[in-house]
Amino acid sequence: MNPKVEVVYRRAEAEEDTTARVPIGTSLFNAAHWAGLPIESTCGGRGTCGKCFVRVVAGEAEATPADHRHLADRLAGGWRLSCQCEVQGPMLVEVPELMHMPKAATMGVGRFVLLEPNVVKLHLRLEEPSLQDQRSHLGRLLDALEDAGYARAFDPGVLPGLALAMRDGTELTATIVGDRLIDVEAGDTSERLFGVSFDIGTTTCVATLVDLRTGATVAVASELNRQAPFGADVIARMARTMQELDEVRALREAVLATANALLNQVRDEAGVARDEIYEAVVVGNATMLHLLVGAFPESIALAPYVATFTEPLDLRADDAGFELHPRGRVCLFPSIGAYVGADIVADIVATGLARDPKVRLLVDVGTNGEIACGSLDRVVATAAPAGPAFEGGEIVHGMRAIEGAIEGVTLTRGVVELQVIGGGAARGICGSGLIDIVAQLRLVGLLDEGGKMAATADVPAHPLAARLVEIDGVKAFALAEGVVLTQQDVRALQFAKGAIATGIETAMRALGAGPEDLAEVLLAGSFGSYINPESARVIGLVPNVPTAQIKAVGNTASEGAKMALLSFREREVAWELPGVVEYIELSGQEDFNDRFIGNLGFPAGAMLQETG
Ligand code: FES
Repeated sequence: MNPKVEVVYRRAEAEEDTTARVPIGTSLFNAAHWAGLPIESTCGGRGTCGKCFVRVVAGEAEATPADHRHLADRLAGGWRLSCQCEVQGPMLVEVPELMHMPKAATMGVGRFVLLEPNVVKLHLRLEEPSLQDQRSHLGRLLDALEDAGYARAFDPGVLPGLALAMRDGTELTATIVGDRLIDVEAGDTSERLFGVSFDIGTTTCVATLVDLRTGATVAVASELNRQAPFGADVIARMARTMQELDEVRALREAVLATANALLNQVRDEAGVARDEIYEAVVVGNATMLHLLVGAFPESIALAPYVATFTEPLDLRADDAGFELHPRGRVCLFPSIGAYVGADIVADIVATGLARDPKVRLLVDVGTNGEIACGSLDRVVATAAPAGPAFEGGEIVHGMRAIEGAIEGVTLTRGVVELQVIGGGAARGICGSGLIDIVAQLRLVGLLDEGGKMAATADVPAHPLAARLVEIDGVKAFALAEGVVLTQQDVRALQFAKGAIATGIETAMRALGAGPEDLAEVLLAGSFGSYINPESARVIGLVPNVPTAQIKAVGNTASEGAKMALLSFREREVAWELPGVVEYIELSGQEDFNDRFIGNLGFPAGAMLQETG
């Protein structure tokens, strides 16, 4: 882990300086993005446009070849290209005023994102060829791009379109993704520019089609991951790939079929052609990303639990199997570790966890609980194997969060009130209902600290005593006709929440933070949106902070992917996060088992009283 240093940015138009604390080796350009400060650029930090110059007032800044190319006469004055200058120690830097203030879109958890996609369309009028000017069409176009501050790199697939465009005149539109020209069309098509973000979940996949000129979402679609028949969770799917080599290919085809079906849906809904979608940004857990590119995920399942890749990938769309513009790009977010995937990186981007001075805890509750805790000073992440209880697995009347599932419960003055998805009769209990019912049983005194359920004989005068039943010799609480919560179900929940609580404790201990240091606890992921924050606290799933500080933040993984699609600056930050976030492998912790056992029980009665 690189030590961090402070960079102070001074802007003529701003009254206050902006300070960024970044790891040594970060570029001045990216460090500014960490602090939310835009610096002029058209090449996205690739060293070609020459527009990102700043003046280094204090600190080390050796001139690079790109500095000599673009700023030869200003080097002595301390001017440098910020994208080429790596921070090696504390610095004070002057930033010129922005020539063009980019548009901003509100995204994520109350964050602004500057609209600066990695895809640009340039409407150009090239100089007419003549007997005196014998440059090729391509040479003419690359010269025009260079004059506009873009690189001369091009995909040879542009040549047929270029020949056609030049047959009709010299007015054309060039599409550049990253630093590469990928398409040429006749006339002005600059109004049509789209990208798509994907959240590839083990259970559900979501695609969001975005207009890259405005930042507006134009269509969203979701569907179950077509890998489901291969196994309900990542462990089952990894097990399949170990039995049969062809299974990896089959799993890849299944997830690509899901992604392409989603692409079809969003295209149809928004009336957008395949060739108008130029880029996809993809997030998901490490196993999903491995399967998406056809890489064996087996090393993730076996000690020492190392992934084949955690790095970000930038693939050509037709190589990646995505049905967007064939020369478009598909970018996979980086992961932090085998079990702290690209989805948590996207969560961190969307919540700004690593750039905020407040210490916050982010928990994505699922079969694999992903946890990140920290602030701009330091972020620690880990993953906790919670098992299937939160998805209704191993629970006698457990079910997924679909129609008929009890998703919320209150027990007041002897009355059982159920919230059932769809409003009809209860058929079973989903994860949020499970957390609620256990919390409520604790609050009304029918469940002790160890998780033992009372029997009618223990509490004959309790207004809910009649609900305490016995089924095949096992104690249970009757919720509705044919739906009970058994003592074993409570045990299954204790194991799941014990694992996540131990993960949280491990991350907070590494950080030296206690509950009193937490400004907020953020429950991320679609499941997190349904958990009652009070219930999560009562059962000890999250630390004992005031309930108002526990917030559901929704599908922040999708938001993070969308932000990276709309802003190359956000993408740079995301790409750097694995080098910034400290990963702790929970099973490598010597005292993990002892602490896990210590976290199986529920918080003591004194804490319950505080809830009123
Ligand atoms: S040269 Fe373009 S951002 Fe630095």
